[in-house]
Amino acid sequence: MWEICGNKPIAVPQRNQGMFPKPRQEVLNAPPLTVPAKLEGVVRLNLNENPYGPSPKVVERLRSLAGKVSRYPSPDPSDLCQRIAEYVGVDPENVVVTAGGDEAIDLLFKVFINPGDEVVITTPTFDVYEARASLYGGVPKFALRGTGFDILVEEVAKQISPRTKAVFVCSPNNPTGNATPLGVLKKLAELSPILVVDEAYVEFSNGSCVGLVNDFDNVVVLRTFSKAFGLAGLRIGYAIACEQLVELMKKAKLPFNTSTLAQQAALAALDDLGYVKWVVEEVKKGRDLLYRGMEALSGVKPYQSQANFLLVEVSSSASELHNRLLEKGIAVRLLRNRGLVPDRFLRVTVGLREENELFLEALEEVLSS
Ligand SMILES: Cc1ncc(COP(=O)(O)O)c(C=O)c1O
Repeated sequence: MWEICGNKPIAVPQRNQGMFPKPRQEVLNAPPLTVPAKLEGVVRLNLNENPYGPSPKVVERLRSLAGKVSRYPSPDPSDLCQRIAEYVGVDPENVVVTAGGDEAIDLLFKVFINPGDEVVITTPTFDVYEARASLYGGVPKFALRGTGFDILVEEVAKQISPRTKAVFVCSPNNPTGNATPLGVLKKLAELSPILVVDEAYVEFSNGSCVGLVNDFDNVVVLRTFSKAFGLAGLRIGYAIACEQLVELMKKAKLPFNTSTLAQQAALAALDDLGYVKWVVEEVKKGRDLLYRGMEALSGVKPYQSQANFLLVEVSSSASELHNRLLEKGIAVRLLRNRGLVPDRFLRVTVGLREENELFLEALEEVLSS
């Protein structure tokens, strides 16, 4: 087959469908994307979403913007950086806005990881760190958490080598729910080339470590609007770090990484912090109810949590319990995270009051039948 290119005919090979160059081995090795089961008509306690939705002010702002989407968004939304900086208590130069916390994780790997570089992951934790490290040719090293899933500084130190680029800590930790004390994070900042603290759930906790960014140039704190602010479907989050690190992350991102709607929704959400405070209080009440409800049942052990979910240890098969709850219209997360005994753990997101009650009723029925 021939095509004309300029005034010279060139040969274009005939292609069969599915024929293309060999993809990078890291991509071939990556597990396929797992999509949660279809969840219409089901109580969704499996994705750590905000069941109350965003502030009505956000909804109003989104409606008013519907006709404006023909314009590109700001590649560096300084008004939003300013508002985030005020909310967090840092300077706007310390903020980079990202397409969710996930993109912030991805950008850190883009900026720092050469094939063969190591990343220390405090396990069990959010499995995106391992997946993204591997995708960039990085080598994940695992520092197992101790009793109560606390981080053991000496275990992290043992995993650090001259090839280590970063240590990842999720606090409060998904899926275990516990937060890491500031003193421990300080020690980790002293021994890590870069310390990444993922604070996706910080609004539901007793405090943030973001002040460390002022004292340590190697600390990056990741945040999201997906959880307490209820904007998961819009994909918006941010990272806080020293100015030089923020500039590197900005260079590595795509120019229009966050949409106009997402940026404006985040601004409107920050204008209604009273609403977020209310959501957080309701979630904390729901968390207590779920904890006490499960504590009273035999066959499950809930763990205390500083997030919008609870880790639950099951004395029989967790997958069976998960499936039987699903039959009753309740979706919880069956945990397969590295570092957790397989088929023994579930994660339950705090839902609306009536959803939490439905869950407890269904759980009691399943456990007693
Ligand atoms: C610990 C943690 N970090 C980051 C994220 C990413 O959130 P998003 O990309 O929606 O901001 C999640 C989402 O569940 C999470 O659990």
